[in-house]
Amino acid sequence: MAELEKDKPHSADYFGEQRNFWWNQDFLQLMGKRWGLEKININTVLDVGCGIGHWGQALAEILPVNAQVTGIDKEIKWVKEAQKTAEAFNLGERYSYVQGDIRALPFEDNLFDFVTCQTVLIHMQQPQLVIQEMIRVLKPGGLLVTVEPNNLARSLVYSSLSFTDSIDTICERVKFQLICERGKEALGEGNNSIGDLIPGYFAEAGLNNIQIFMSDKTFALFPPYNSKEQQVFKQQYLDWIEDNFWIWDKQETKRFFLAGGGTEAEFELNWQQVMRENQLWKQGLLNNNYHTGGGTICYLISGYK
Ligand SMILES: C[S@@+](CC[C@H](N)C(=O)[O-])C[C@H]1O[C@@H](n2cnc3c(N)ncnc32)[C@H](O)[C@@H]1O
Repeated sequence: MAELEKDKPHSADYFGEQRNFWWNQDFLQLMGKRWGLEKININTVLDVGCGIGHWGQALAEILPVNAQVTGIDKEIKWVKEAQKTAEAFNLGERYSYVQGDIRALPFEDNLFDFVTCQTVLIHMQQPQLVIQEMIRVLKPGGLLVTVEPNNLARSLVYSSLSFTDSIDTICERVKFQLICERGKEALGEGNNSIGDLIPGYFAEAGLNNIQIFMSDKTFALFPPYNSKEQQVFKQQYLDWIEDNFWIWDKQETKRFFLAGGGTEAEFELNWQQVMRENQLWKQGLLNNNYHTGGGTICYLISGYK
């Protein structure tokens, strides 16, 4: 339950404006066709671990206009914020949000036509248990869709700055992130790269017509960064660098690194290195010589009950 005790609400560092650029709408339209949304009668939708509503609301255009969407999150701050964002997008009548624990969903069996989550199973000690819960509240014949990444892969995506790094530097970067990911998992806070295993969990859970796709979205940045999206990402990165933020803040990173088997001394060396890289990144962004294709591994995994 450690995850329920933190003072800062869960994932607070990741709910900036940049999240609004996570999906290409034409890709979601395509996914709607591939999932066969028009063939099932969707009246009720559940967005599990909804945060401020980003994922469920991104689906608004591919869901029937009369479908009622419920979002659930453990953080009351996010529940309130999600309702506000729904209203801001004129979705207030279709979307409502409740506080609750997704490990024991406060809904009866066989209630929803469509149950979904995004970047939630990566934070679960027992992702299979949450999948079971999502299946329990899904109607027979209903659709389950989860969106989960392999975040470790990002440590190998080049930028113009990292392209010529030594092999040792690249391996150290991957190792640092891997130790932290292992530590996070050891602490019961989920594996940040669990996306690779979700298709197998769906099969074990007995879902039918399982399909796996990957988001076609990349987070490319290249000078002069003049699209709205690139401006938002550039500013987000500069803000993170200003705050000495990496994937997590220093305290959280250290907690994960030590739990993953690293020592205090190794942590300090690794942290100094990522902070040095942050400063190079900042200069690259400000001097227009940072660029990357920004690829990610983000799976969309679907199956029918
Ligand atoms: C990375 S965020 C994803 C939010 C949203 N799905 C999105 O993609 O924008 C993970 C969310 O899961 C929620 N969460 C984590 N553990 C939970 C639990 N046991 N019960 C309910 N919500 C939980 C967090 O509060 C957070 O809002």
